[in-house]
Amino acid sequence: MQLTLDAPLDMHLHLREGEMLTQVAPHSAAHFSGAVIMPNLRTPVTSLQEVLDYQAAILEACGSEAFRPYMTLFFRQYSRAELLAAREHIIGIKLYPAGITTQSEAGVMDFHGIDQTLALMEELEIPLLIHGESNGFVMDREQEFMATYQRLAESFPSLSIVMEHITTAAALSVLEQYENVAATVTLHHLMLTLDDVIGGLMQPHLFCKPIAKTPRDREALRQAVFSGHPRLMFGSDSAPHPRHAKECCGCAAGIFSAPVALPMLVQLFAAADCLEQLPAFVSTNARRFYRLEPVPRTVRFHDQPWQVPEHYGTVRPFLAGETLEWSLTDHRNS
Ligand code: DOR
Ligand code: ZN
Repeated sequence: MQLTLDAPLDMHLHLREGEMLTQVAPHSAAHFSGAVIMPNLRTPVTSLQEVLDYQAAILEACGSEAFRPYMTLFFRQYSRAELLAAREHIIGIKLYPAGITTQSEAGVMDFHGIDQTLALMEELEIPLLIHGESNGFVMDREQEFMATYQRLAESFPSLSIVMEHITTAAALSVLEQYENVAATVTLHHLMLTLDDVIGGLMQPHLFCKPIAKTPRDREALRQAVFSGHPRLMFGSDSAPHPRHAKECCGCAAGIFSAPVALPMLVQLFAAADCLEQLPAFVSTNARRFYRLEPVPRTVRFHDQPWQVPEHYGTVRPFLAGETLEWSLTDHRNS
């Protein structure tokens, strides 16, 4: 059996920099027509020049692949002139609450002090991408952030807001309330619950932010995605860390899923008997919400099993050692 996807997009991706970028970027470029690139580098991407330099490094790391990196700025207070200059080079601005996850120390501490920049973004039609977690108890962090999403969606009704990597039924209800809000969902949050992370022996390679939640939350996410919700978009949140940073005391948060994301999604949708909803989740919903014209490209899969390697260079991938049912056939630009 064969399956063809038209311009699949990964709407949330960490590619890092330097050697790690060179190591991981080809995996995304092999499967996707484009990806939204997160700006939480060691020095966050906060200027147009940094955006352009980072984009050039990504394109170089991807070689000849027809892959478009959709760049983001790291949220800070920006002037009108800065936003005007940056706007044609970015897909949006990513907001992190200060210290909430990997390399987010420069994030927002006071959510009431950011309205001026948000008003400019609304006027200039620059989407706001948010890592929505509070500083509360780890299982409640996403839910506690919902009031902030609601305030922003209501105060800035023309601002496009993306709730990144949602993990809870609570986030799905907020999504229902606002036309200007969309959300990304990862592969791992469709597959894992907290039990997989800490219910038996602790699994550092499944540790990520937001942490995987309850079976009820996972089921709600699956139902929403499998039923083709028009404002849910695939965002892998593939976030590579070298093994020494995962298999240690003080494990870094992040799951490297880029090499397995698309074939595993095909498998999940096929198992749920809803393959016809996959194009919306991995491409057309994102194109509509962000008004994108992706690089024309088809990616084909066939039902031949393959075993996920234990390691790609210094990184252990999601589903390492497991057998997946669908293989990438080839990819061609058209
Ligand atoms: O698990 C995560 N890893 N969550 C994030 O929000 C950031 C990411 C990273 O950059 O490693
Ligand atoms: Zn992320």
